Amino acid sequence: MSAEKINPYKDSELGKKEQVAQMFDNISENYDGLNRVISLGIDVKWRKKVVKIVGKNNPKQILDIATGTGDLALMMASLKPEKIVGLDISAGMLEVGKQKIAKANLSDKIEMIVGDSEEMPFKDNTFDAITVSFGVRNFAHLDKGLTEIARVLKPTGVLVILETSNPTKFPFKQGYKFYTNFILPVIGKLFSKDKVAYSYLSESANSFPFGDAFNNILKKNGFTHTKDTPVTFGVATIYTAYK
Ligand SMILES: C[S@@+](CC[C@H](N)C(=O)[O-])C[C@H]1O[C@@H](n2cnc3c(N)ncnc32)[C@H](O)[C@@H]1O
Repeated sequence: MSAEKINPYKDSELGKKEQVAQMFDNISENYDGLNRVISLGIDVKWRKKVVKIVGKNNPKQILDIATGTGDLALMMASLKPEKIVGLDISAGMLEVGKQKIAKANLSDKIEMIVGDSEEMPFKDNTFDAITVSFGVRNFAHLDKGLTEIARVLKPTGVLVILETSNPTKFPFKQGYKFYTNFILPVIGKLFSKDKVAYSYLSESANSFPFGDAFNNILKKNGFTHTKDTPVTFGVATIYTAYK
């Protein structure tokens, strides 16, 4: 089944977008803790790599789409841009993020806004760098989200995406399958109030296109010079692309 058709709540009458927003609202309070447990803390290392790539562009205006609780947005403050905007459809996730930003005294630098990646409230060619970490997999309409990103990215700007992928080599492929199919849902059920959320997350991780397949999707939606860099045996991949 294609990733776009995988929904969090099988019996819900709501569309994917509303279900995803609801799910992240539900898990927002323990999202950060779970994130660290699930990735065994490695996600912090991946995020640092993203920040380094973004920094090469000396960005003044940065947009972090699907910013969630703002971890990447907060890290990018070290690049000393003029402004970072974090956008997300889940008000619950943003609320947690806003508290973290206030605690770090960065409320004047990082603005968090509720919004949809498929229809963003920004003018064409606004941002020097756009990031999406673990977000594109949850978009209800991937193509629409990506063309909208191309619209608001400056012609000189860079898009950096961090997303889960699947290791292709033995024994990592088998080990990862076992982890996402059996261990991850159990951890999710133990630690999260939302029992189905983590089954959805592992299901969608198994079916989302990665590597060349995702590069091709980027190209189809207005990007060029796409590059994919698998990290940690291909458990995740960092993509860079230009308009
Ligand atoms: C797995 S979380 C990732 C959060 C954060 N970027 C991180 O790295 O921890 C995915 C986020 O994508 C957001 N999201 C999903 N679809 C979206 C859309 N169409 N527009 C904006 N945000 C979206 C969800 O609300 C959720 O906060």
